[in-house]
Amino acid sequence: MPTPSSPRKVVIVGAGAVGATFAYALAQSGAASNISLIDQNQNLAEGQVADLSHGLPFYPSLSIEVGDATDYSDANVIVITAGSAQRSGETRLDLLKRNASIIEGIMDDIIEQQSRAIVVIVTNPVDVLTQVALNHSRWSRSHIFGSGTVLDSARFRYFISQEMGVDVKSVHAYILGEHGDSEFPAWSLTNLGGVSIQQYVQSNGLQEHWPERSRSIFEAVKNSAYHIIDYKGATNFAVGQALVRIVKAILRDSHSILTVSVKLKGEYGLNDICLSVPCLVSKDGIEKVLVANLSKEEQQALHHSASVLKQSMEGLL
Ligand code: LAC
Repeated sequence: MPTPSSPRKVVIVGAGAVGATFAYALAQSGAASNISLIDQNQNLAEGQVADLSHGLPFYPSLSIEVGDATDYSDANVIVITAGSAQRSGETRLDLLKRNASIIEGIMDDIIEQQSRAIVVIVTNPVDVLTQVALNHSRWSRSHIFGSGTVLDSARFRYFISQEMGVDVKSVHAYILGEHGDSEFPAWSLTNLGGVSIQQYVQSNGLQEHWPERSRSIFEAVKNSAYHIIDYKGATNFAVGQALVRIVKAILRDSHSILTVSVKLKGEYGLNDICLSVPCLVSKDGIEKVLVANLSKEEQQALHHSASVLKQSMEGLL
C-alpha cells in the first residue's frame, strides 16, 4: 500500500453528480496523486475531466485523466458511483435491480485486470450492492465495503450541532444500519466532546422537550436525501466529502473509525448481511469491525434493518 511518496491512484467509476463532485473534492484534498474518471458515457467523462483539469493550477499536484478498465490494474482505491440515481419519490431499494447488474459487470472488469485495489461501493442501494459485489467477486469483506451511513452520520452530527449550539466537530454521533429508510440513530453512543448526550441534556435542563427534539433531529437526517432530491434532483456535495473522508483513511492508513457498510460475520448477532456499524478503516480497507455496546432498542433496530435488507434481496442473490 502507498507510502506518502508512492502513487495514490483513485479510480472513480461513474462521472455523474456524485462521481464528479467526489473527484473535485478529492482533487482539492491532496490525498490522491492520480484520479481516473470512468463513465460509459465517454463524452461525460471527457467533459468532467476537462473541467476538473482546468483547476489543476489551484489543487495540490496530481494528475486527472479519463480512465478505462485497464486503470483498475494499478489502482489503490476504486470508488463505484455508477448506476441509475434515485428519482423523486423513489426509495433506494427501488433502484436495486437496475443497479445490481451494473455492479457485477464492473466487478468482472476489476477481477479481469487482477486489481488489488480496495473497492468502495457508493451506488444505491449501497448495502445490497456491496453484498452483490462481495458475492460476485468472492473477495474478502475487508477489501470491498460500502460508503454506508458515513454521510448519514455527518448529517446527524450537523443537525445535533444546530440543535445544541455546539461545534459540529465536537459532536460525535453515528447513524447505523441501512443507508436508507430503516437506518437508526445510536443515541447511546452520541457525545458532545466526550460528554454523553444524555448527560448534556440533563445537566443543561433540556430534558423536558428532549424526546420530541431528538425525534425531529433524526427525522431531519432520514428525510435529507428525499428533500434535496426534490429540490435539485440529486445529492452530491456532502456525499462527495464523505467519500473523501473514507478514501483518505485508506490512502493515509489512518485507522479511522467510520460507519461504512460491512458484511457482518456474527457481530451484533448478524451474519451475511451488509450494514453500517463502526469499523476501523486503514490501508487494507476494513481492519476491524467494532462491536459497540448498543442499547436494547438499538440492537433491535439493527436487526430490523437487517431483515428489511434481507427481504429486499429475496430473488436477487
Ligand atoms: C444520499 C444518497 C447518497 O443519502 O443516498 O444523499
